[in-house]
Amino acid sequence: MSGNVRPETMERITTPELAQAFIDEQIAELRSQIGDKKVLLALSGGVDSSVVAALLIKAIGQQLVCVHVNHGLLRKGEPEQVVEVFRNQMNANLVYVDAVDRFLDKLAGVAEPERKRKIIGAEFIRVFEEEARKLDGIEFLAQGTIYPDILESDGVKAHHNVGGLPEDLQFELVEPVKLLFKDEVRVVGKALGLPDNMVFRQPFPGPGLGVRCLGAITRDRLECVRESDAILREEFAKNGLEGRVWQYFTAIPDFKSVGVTDGKRTEGYPVILRAVNTTDAMTATVEDVPFSLLQHITARITHEVKGVNRVLFDLTPKPCATIEWE
Ligand code: XMP
Repeated sequence: MSGNVRPETMERITTPELAQAFIDEQIAELRSQIGDKKVLLALSGGVDSSVVAALLIKAIGQQLVCVHVNHGLLRKGEPEQVVEVFRNQMNANLVYVDAVDRFLDKLAGVAEPERKRKIIGAEFIRVFEEEARKLDGIEFLAQGTIYPDILESDGVKAHHNVGGLPEDLQFELVEPVKLLFKDEVRVVGKALGLPDNMVFRQPFPGPGLGVRCLGAITRDRLECVRESDAILREEFAKNGLEGRVWQYFTAIPDFKSVGVTDGKRTEGYPVILRAVNTTDAMTATVEDVPFSLLQHITARITHEVKGVNRVLFDLTPKPCATIEWE
């Protein structure tokens, strides 16, 4: 797809048929752009990079090298799903990098949110660069840039985090969905056969659970946030809220409170539930979650997540709060 301006005549992709036409056209364009060369892609498992991966697998198969960096801050089951869908089902050439210890060691003791974000972004580029250097003959870098990224920034997809590669590792860019809006990317992803829980995924910040494990990240609290988030997602899915609520997650503060376990006073962490609706993330309202469901989620989290003895529901809209806690 050439040019960074969406032509006024371009039809909105709303149906499987239109998605298929887009896919066929892109496959032809990608084959002619890439020829027999190799393409590198940072595959996070988010909607945009997953759709780009699936398109490129159809177009050039093994000439695509996907690198999935597990930085330890992904939601429960996500790294496993990337391997299952792309390596096992789509037969992709996938390099899985277990960088969990590396990220968590770098983040140890760092409490300031913007420093945490910077460390996560910089370390991501370093890991990706190391993997890129191990590969021979790469000439293209694929990115899941979408149209709002072009409209809102200068075309650099900040959270894809590969914009900061050094001079000698600059590749020609391949950005097959750069003129599409998010809803269109989802329709294309569905037509490409990606699973619904990948295609209709709620937004997830680049620094992942790192900004939901408040203050300095510790492994025990990170597991509490990952496990409680998995319970929240499971219960929202079971109760018809998945796909209806814009964003929902848990966060964990860096202090304990007193509780009672088996008749004894004990200390444990509180977990905060957040569920919000918005159209543009600039303002947000709080979802009116049924009280009985909140009670059920509270019971599950306090029984199933070791170290948690209290659950709170955040009632604050944006403004004056933000959606994330840090
Ligand atoms: P806030 O907390 O500012 O969030 O109301 C608005 C939206 O942006 C997401 N968010 C991020 N996304 N990197 C990202 O890629 C980040 O550092 C980041 N911080 C917040 C947040 O999840 C919400 O959807």
